[in-house]
Amino acid sequence: MKIDKEKFYRVLAPRPVVLITTADKEGRTNAAPFSFVMPVSSNPPLVAFASAPQRHTLANIRETKEFVLNMPSEHILDKLWICADSFPKGVSEIKQASLTEMKSATVAVPGIEESIGWIECVLEFEKEAGDHVIVVGKVVNAEIKDIFWRDGEFDIPKAKPILHVTGKDFVVAERVVNIK
Ligand SMILES: Cc1cc2nc3c(=O)[nH]c(=O)nc-3n(C[C@H](O)[C@H](O)[C@H](O)COP(=O)(O)O)c2cc1C
Repeated sequence: MKIDKEKFYRVLAPRPVVLITTADKEGRTNAAPFSFVMPVSSNPPLVAFASAPQRHTLANIRETKEFVLNMPSEHILDKLWICADSFPKGVSEIKQASLTEMKSATVAVPGIEESIGWIECVLEFEKEAGDHVIVVGKVVNAEIKDIFWRDGEFDIPKAKPILHVTGKDFVVAERVVNIK
């Protein structure tokens, strides 16, 4: 089965989804889901995501240089979907989706309380790539809720993180297999 090469990412699936929170220079918050996301370096700790140029998320990061990757779980999937709607700039998807803002440890941008964990970032650089812009952030703080951390490991079956397939299709991760 040949796949349209512009849709190659449908084969590179499912992909982890994060809800990225940002704020503009007036402090108005914003949240949007992103699945073009990857870790790029552990020392220094860097993470990247690809944003279409028109996203408010990107505009806000250019204004305030900060963002938070919030790790969503199955129980907020409907709310994540609301955050993907296009609201006017300045309207907070966090409030529209009835999610809860939570003070971050190191950046001014709030996280989302209902998340599994949070990765707080400061803009390192951005680079245009095709029809997207790669945003690379330096990780300045990373946290996971205690209930999802067991014996030094991320308790996936308990947390139920979500991955994106395409459109409205998602995968809920709940089974870990071990290599013998
Ligand atoms: C599961 C999912 C993943 C998405 N991933 C991306 C992505 O990686 N990059 C992107 O530019 N848009 C992505 N989008 C689209 C944005 O989330 C959507 O356009 C949103 O309204 C942007 O909000 P903003 O303008 O407030 O930043 C995704 C949407 C969904 C539902």
